Amino acid sequence: MTPRRRVNLRTVAVALAAATVAIQFVPVDRTNPPVVHEVGAPADIATLLRGACYDCHSRQTQWPWYSRVAPVSWIVADHVREGRRKLDFTDWPATNLDAQDDMLREVAKEVGAGEMPLAGYDWVHPQAKLSPQQRAAIVAWAGGPSAEPAGQDNE
Ligand code: HEC
Repeated sequence: MTPRRRVNLRTVAVALAAATVAIQFVPVDRTNPPVVHEVGAPADIATLLRGACYDCHSRQTQWPWYSRVAPVSWIVADHVREGRRKLDFTDWPATNLDAQDDMLREVAKEVGAGEMPLAGYDWVHPQAKLSPQQRAAIVAWAGGPSAEPAGQDNE
């Protein structure tokens, strides 16, 4: 007869609970550094960007309660870190028109293709659910796929 080791469920539960507590002590960066230069956009576009993008692409992240609970906090902080690194609407290249152009082009591409906001984000942030019209408005503002260099005009 092969000896079978019985796993004690109680031991497993206690170990899991202990691990859950322990990982809460891993430091997570949830800072909002000072705003450097905010992107210029007409009010309606600015509202859409704030609602749908700023949590990951700005220094004005609203950290939800679950961003304080590991391991979800690690994922959230990672999205913010990555998001800000790629595009920060509050650290906008104020004077570098080429850089602005590149970013706006990326914005038009990502939003036009429905790639942004990041999948799943709008489940917990209903204000980030963009209607086709809202997507089109952002794409038009950002210059569209084949537009002239996108300015920050007020249309
Ligand atoms: C939940 C976090 C989150 C939200 C909300 C979000 N993004 Fe992102 N975004 C990311 C992450 C993470 C990346 C980098 C990884 C990737 O490209 O998928 C990214 C990448 C991008 C890129 C590509 C930058 C590059 O140079 O590759 C653009 C453009 C972008 N996002 C625009 C937006 C816009 C516009 C919105 C709002 C409509 C938005 N994102 C909302 C997390 C987010």
